[in-house]
Amino acid sequence: MSAVLETPSVRVRPMTEADLAGVMEIERAAYEFPWTEGIFRDCLRVGYCCWVMEEGGELRGYGVMSVGAGEAHILNLCIAPEAQRRGLGRRLLRHLIGLARYHGARTVMLEVRMSNSRALRLYRGMGFREIGLRRDYYPAAQGREDALVLARPLGRAGPGAAGPRDV
Ligand SMILES: CC(C)(COP(=O)(O)OP(=O)(O)OC[C@H]1O[C@@H](n2cnc3c(N)ncnc32)[C@H](O)[C@@H]1OP(=O)(O)O)[C@@H](O)C(=O)NCCC(=O)NCCS
Repeated sequence: MSAVLETPSVRVRPMTEADLAGVMEIERAAYEFPWTEGIFRDCLRVGYCCWVMEEGGELRGYGVMSVGAGEAHILNLCIAPEAQRRGLGRRLLRHLIGLARYHGARTVMLEVRMSNSRALRLYRGMGFREIGLRRDYYPAAQGREDALVLARPLGRAGPGAAGPRDV
């Protein structure tokens, strides 16, 4: 399954192990404290929703989300630094929200660093609201950093809901 998103040259498709080298290149460039390749491998192995976004055949970003018990949890959402601020992050997030609904989730949740103002603007603009705080959740240059917990309720759920192609 893959989905063409608005611009014909941009598409999202499920991540495979063959994507991991490219994913890790973006992960290391985009985050001060990147995930290891082993974390991505584990996410693929346990069957989390792992998707990549391509533009003209080039890897531009990826998203990882778990769904269970009516709740989706976005674990990673990342766009390559050189491709940021062109609307790709919002499109990928919209795709993950569509997938969450498709899989029957009633809520999408995520954690974000307090200092990540870019991501916070994106999530708030997409209807996410703060529901909590996890103290010392992330490693930081000095000590630890708190995470904000954000959630967005989903309108429809279940087999009749819009699929990922419809987002
Ligand atoms: C957060 C991230 C995914 C956004 O992706 P993106 O493709 O650059 O974002 P978009 O171009 O789709 O922008 C969507 C909205 O996000 C916000 N935003 C994105 N970049 C921003 C910036 N540099 N400054 C301020 N707001 C920004 C804006 O609200 C923007 O909407 P607008 O363009 O209408 O103002 C991207 O910056 C990224 O991958 N960052 C590193 C990894 C990360 O922090 N992921 C989130 C972990 S919780």
